[in-house]
Amino acid sequence: MAVSNAEISEIVDGLSADPKQISPKYFYDERGSRLFDDITQLPEYYLTNTELGIMRDNIVEIVAMVGKQASLIEFGSGSSLKTRILLEHLSELAAYVPVDISREHLHASAQQIRDRFPHVDVLPVVADFTQTFALPKPMVMPVRNIVYFPGSTIGNFEHDVAIELLRVMYQEAGKGGALLIGVDLQKDPDIIENAYNDSAGVTAEFNLNMLQHLNRDYGASFDVDEFAHSANYDENKGRVVLELVSQTDQTFAVGDTAFDIADGEAILTEYSHKYTLDGFAAMAGTAGFSVEKVWTDAEQLFSVQFLTRP
Ligand code: AVJ
Repeated sequence: MAVSNAEISEIVDGLSADPKQISPKYFYDERGSRLFDDITQLPEYYLTNTELGIMRDNIVEIVAMVGKQASLIEFGSGSSLKTRILLEHLSELAAYVPVDISREHLHASAQQIRDRFPHVDVLPVVADFTQTFALPKPMVMPVRNIVYFPGSTIGNFEHDVAIELLRVMYQEAGKGGALLIGVDLQKDPDIIENAYNDSAGVTAEFNLNMLQHLNRDYGASFDVDEFAHSANYDENKGRVVLELVSQTDQTFAVGDTAFDIADGEAILTEYSHKYTLDGFAAMAGTAGFSVEKVWTDAEQLFSVQFLTRP
């Protein structure tokens, strides 16, 4: 991976803030992506399997709502099983447009989709989807655009930023378009905390791997063994807070910039917001969407929602 100065400044700025923070996008080097895949298989991590079950149980209705000749625009690279389930059932798609900032990752998964679904017009777009981007022109004129954003990745963003992102999706959906989105729900705090504190310690490895990634690719000098994983659910704010807590008074550097961190001081690495159905509908409404349909599992752990432009 080519390292950009913009990324180094972003990391240095985050570590200069109070509290210290690093964007969750730095979780995903090769090992981080593998560890995340392992997380999705953990018994405690209910999100992925629950969302998959909701997709499978309601696929006929979902496909009917998407309609024929739609262009499916996925925010993210589209390597997930959920995407494959959708593509298997959407027999008359105008195009599939995965959007991701990582060119390598995007083109590798686009090729996998082409191999598996040779009849689909796959048109990957390299873009930072937090800002509007131009859509490619499919061979067949789409009837409507359906934005797809699975996995409750929306939960990574703080309220205002999440609304901004929903506004981008509203723009990209265009007139008559819609958004199909996976949204994790508020529930018994123990269930949530266990999902981020698994007994096999995979989430801890995933969190700590961010420091190894910065050491290897961004000229950082973290002593990884002197940090510990922490994940707590803040019930008032409805979000999990992932941190790396310093186990001693120590210093580290990123490039030429040195930092002190105290014993017990934390670096914030991720928020994972959980929503009520009403809370999410209000957020979607602020961005211009109306909630047309919500599918959940029997225990209401997770939701898949179809939002339209009224
Ligand atoms: C990919 C952002 C949905 O918030 O549950 C999993 C990432 N972090 N375990 C989540 C994650 C720790 C995940 N998202």
